[in-house]
Amino acid sequence: MTEEVDVVVVGSCMTDLVSQAPRLPKAGETIHGHRFFIGFGGKGANQCIQAARLGAKTAMVCKVGKDFFGDNYIQNFKDSGVSTAFVEQTAEAATGAASIIVNDAGENAIVIVAGANMLLGKEELQRAQAALEKAKVVVCQLEVSPDTSLKALQMAQQNHVKTIFNPAPAISDLHAGFYKASDIFCCNESEAELLTGCPVASVEDAGRVGLELLKRGCASVIITLGPQGCVVLQSKDPAPKHVPTTKVTSVDTTGAGDSFIGALAFYIAHYPTMPLEEMARRANLIAAVSVQTTGTQTSYPFKKDLPTELF
Ligand SMILES: Nc1ncnc2c1ncn2[C@@H]1O[C@H](COP(=O)(O)OP(=O)(O)O)[C@@H](O)[C@H]1O
Ligand SMILES: *[C@@H]1O[C@H](CO)[C@@H](O)[C@H](O)[C@H]1NC(C)=O
Repeated sequence: MTEEVDVVVVGSCMTDLVSQAPRLPKAGETIHGHRFFIGFGGKGANQCIQAARLGAKTAMVCKVGKDFFGDNYIQNFKDSGVSTAFVEQTAEAATGAASIIVNDAGENAIVIVAGANMLLGKEELQRAQAALEKAKVVVCQLEVSPDTSLKALQMAQQNHVKTIFNPAPAISDLHAGFYKASDIFCCNESEAELLTGCPVASVEDAGRVGLELLKRGCASVIITLGPQGCVVLQSKDPAPKHVPTTKVTSVDTTGAGDSFIGALAFYIAHYPTMPLEEMARRANLIAAVSVQTTGTQTSYPFKKDLPTELF
């Protein structure tokens, strides 16, 4: 018997290997950098960790390698109170990794090897079936096989579990089934642009593009707009609503979108009757905290560090 959970995330784990150097190396060149660090990333894991830090009972459904990074990632989940009952280790591939080089101008060059993430499939979903069908919300992205994400959303939806789908990284030929399987379809400007072919350069554009996404069958759409907050649309009242956020000094926006989605999942699980715009307003404020310090998961706030009005 597994304990019941509120938020189940089906998605990716990635180890970020980050080197900071004066410039990016050319082919065949070796250069010296000035700092190296290892970080925990992957959109799915990021979202799950943020939801857990706000107080949600979370479980992650994912696959890592039978290797050092996989062992480490499992410990990272345990440290944040995320259930690892459905975190599987495989000897067939390495834990997902992103080798990142950042130059002094802040530009980067990145190689992502999805590795074990791509081996998450139907069998793993079957093993997590009870959790997926009894959760309050299931969250998916596109850093694992799209078939796996779609299946997980459908398993949840068939059991009246709320679904959040984050089509990231976006693919232009997204299967139509994703829209119908999404209670909340949440993406950023560039993803909305790629999915619709329409540019998103303003709040008005986001409203228009949101309406187009809504028409494809989701119950609601949220397009995040960085320092401008987000736009929320619901099929029951499709007029786009801009939800602005407070001005902050941003230091590192990596993973802001994942913080937003993790927060959204927490609110859906804990305050199911709260209006979606209010959830989005609060998720904006939580993501705004995450941009004020460096790192991805390291920048995600805990409940104890946030104003009580957010709970
Ligand atoms: N500079 C910023 N100031 C305040 N909030 C921000 C800032 N950048 C991002 N956010 C918050 O994070 C959310 C997601 O950011 P966004 O840049 O749209 O996503 P992504 O991380 O996918 O690029 C925004 O909706 C907003 O709430
Ligand atoms: C949107 O998210 C993708 C990752 O899926 C990222 O590469 C892109 O820079 C983001 N776009 C904006 C406008 O923040």
